[in-house]
This record gives sequence, structure tokens and C-alpha cells, in this order.
Amino acid sequence: MAQTLACLRGWNIPLAQAELAALLPDSNLDNLSSRFILAGEQSIAKLQSTLSCSSGIQCFLHDVQYMDFANDDIDEFMKTVSSFLERMPKRGSLAVRYLRIAGRIDGLSTQSLAGEIGGLAVSHGYSVDLSNPEYEIGLIADGDSNILACGWLIGDFDDSIGTAPRRATERPFFRPISLDPRLARLAVNLACGPIDEYAVLDPMTGTGGFAMEAITMGRNCIAIDMDNEMITGAKQNIEWALENSSAESEYQIMIGDACNLEDSIPTKWHGKISGVVLDPPYERNSHGTHAHFELISNTIDSMRKVVSDEAKLVLIIPIKPDESDIDIQLMHGDWNEFVSMMSHSGAKIIGHWHEHVHASLARLILLATIAPQD
Ligand SMILES: C[S@@+](CC[C@H](N)C(=O)[O-])C[C@H]1O[C@@H](n2cnc3c(N)ncnc32)[C@H](O)[C@@H]1O
Repeated sequence: MAQTLACLRGWNIPLAQAELAALLPDSNLDNLSSRFILAGEQSIAKLQSTLSCSSGIQCFLHDVQYMDFANDDIDEFMKTVSSFLERMPKRGSLAVRYLRIAGRIDGLSTQSLAGEIGGLAVSHGYSVDLSNPEYEIGLIADGDSNILACGWLIGDFDDSIGTAPRRATERPFFRPISLDPRLARLAVNLACGPIDEYAVLDPMTGTGGFAMEAITMGRNCIAIDMDNEMITGAKQNIEWALENSSAESEYQIMIGDACNLEDSIPTKWHGKISGVVLDPPYERNSHGTHAHFELISNTIDSMRKVVSDEAKLVLIIPIKPDESDIDIQLMHGDWNEFVSMMSHSGAKIIGHWHEHVHASLARLILLATIAPQD
């Protein structure tokens, strides 16, 4: 069986692992290390479409060969690379690209080894073309685990994620509430899984952070906000983002109340919402109570009337920047009360991750199943 290896980006590894699992739901994933995940046998087309929407996956190595550089024999590894080249029916021009993640592997020159593999490829009938090759081999050395992996490269080693041009401060309509596109993209994938004909729902879209990512990756999307200024601004941002995108999707950006989604969302989308991404406001009301718990609970009640059976919710909430998973401290309100509110609303928390914002603020990215209701 030709195994595939996913190589994850380093900006938030646990979140990237969760995104990979969401985008390849039918695969048995097996962690070789925190950033190297074996993903079984996959078609090239599936790997390309997964990469094109992902935020946390750097690349895939198809038909991967790997070794533990600290314990295994490099000569044996080169023999497996040689037979991997031999069994491929491909002939043509090829380049070997190399990448080091998480520092160096002691005693290994990844660059020299890439040169050796290039020489091996030539002896198998390939020609080398570094600028415009027909095929690329990826050689990745993980300094954290000492694992060295080599396979057909799907994607590239460019570390500037495709979301960079849509950074919040570059957009025509910016507010401090605007989400980082890298996180927004990952949240959409976590909630919705592989791209399908259903729609992503962003019921409190603000400046359109989630919607922009959903639409530019080719997902159908419904974005709602109760504030007219936000709707005008979100539309402006989406049109701007689409200027540099060839994605085709159906989307609607509209005024509405997240607590009454049934009336706002066109009936053709009822039952056809693949996932919900929610970034609610957090203000105390005039009595100092936490009205946002009620707002979230009412929004969950209302989304349950329009989502599909498999839909998940990703909710982003501000927390104090403590890495502890046991003692989560919300910026506004009590964690245990929050968990109880979620479960009373029909949302079952199935995962949560932290994302650092600055010294005094982090975000909790929370994944929940939401049982639809008639
Ligand atoms: C934190 S902001 C969302 C920021 C957004 N993720 C972005 O990238 O810009 C919350 C938004 O929820 C909207 N909102 C608050 N209550 C709402 C409700 N009941 N229905 C719809 N939108 C609501 C606010 O107008 C605000 O734009």
C-alpha cells in the first residue's frame, strides 16, 4: 500500500492535527510525530483538494518512505528510496526539494542527501530540472522526532500560507474584532469537513472573517449579522478577497438575527448547513451579568433548526492565556457554567484548543456536535 504522510505547519500543531482529521474523515491517521501524520492510501486528486483548502497542512508526501535517523540505517533507507523510484512508472524531469522542520537532525545534511536522491533519480532514468520539473520529490527532516521522510511532493514548502494577502489589516473594511484568516480558515474546515455542496453558516459574521475564507476556498456560505454596517463591510471584504481567487461558490451575506436563523436563511438551505462557525460578541450588559451565555444558547437553539444531521459547531471564545486544559479560565464568565449551558442547548463539546493572541489574551477554539431539531 502506498502510504501518504501529511506534514503539518508549526503555528498551532494540535489545531492542525484536528483540521487534518476533519478534512480526511474516512482515513486512519497515525502520528509518526506531532507534525508527521500517516494518512493511509489517498488519491493525488484528494490530497490536492485537501491542501487547497487547508490552513494547517504544509504538504503531503505520497508513497512515503521514512526512517528514524537516530536508530535506523541510512543505507537501508536509501535502498527503499531507490525501489520507490524504480516502481514508479514515471519518466521525465524531476526536482528533489528538501525541508527541515523543528530544527536540525544531528549528523544529517538534508541538502546533501537531497543531492544524493537526485543522483539516484537520474540513474533511474529521470532528468533533473530544478526550475520547472514535471515531478517533485520531497525530503523532510523533522528535528523534533529525528524522522526523515521522502515521497512524491504534493504541495510545496512555501511557508507563507495562502491566507497572508487577506490579513485583517489589509482588508478594505477592518475592525479590531476581525479574525486572523489562518485561524478563520481552520475553524471553517473543523466545523464543515471536506468541501461539499452544503453551506457554511457564519451567523455573526462581523467583518466577514470566516465567510471570506469559506468563499475563497470554494465553499457555499451564508453569513449573517444584525448590524447593517458590518454587512456592508463584510460584502466589501468578500468582493475584495474574490478579486484574487478563482473559487466559485454560492453565497449570501445578509442582515438577520442569529437567534432567529430559521426566518433569515432561505428555505433551500434548511437542512443543508454543513457546519457553523461562531465568533460572538462579549460584552457585559448594564447589570454586569454575562448576557453572552444567553446569546450563545439562543443562537445554538436557532441553528439546530437549520443545520444538517452531521453539522458541527466551532465556537471561538476569549480566555486567559494559560496553557492548562484542566483549568480553563474564560475572560467573561465561568467555564463550568459555560459547559453546562452548552449541554443544555444540545451542543456536545468534542474538542477544544488554545490559540495565543497576546500576553493577556488567548482564544479557546471549541468544537461541538449540534443535534438538529425539527
Ligand atoms: C466578535 S464579532 C464577529 C467578528 C468576526 N468573526 C470577524 O472576523 O470580523 C460579533 C458580531 O456579532 C454580531 N451580532 C451580535 N449579536 C447578534 C445577533 N443576535 N445576530 C446576528 N449578529 C449578531 C455583532 O454585530 C458583531 O458584528
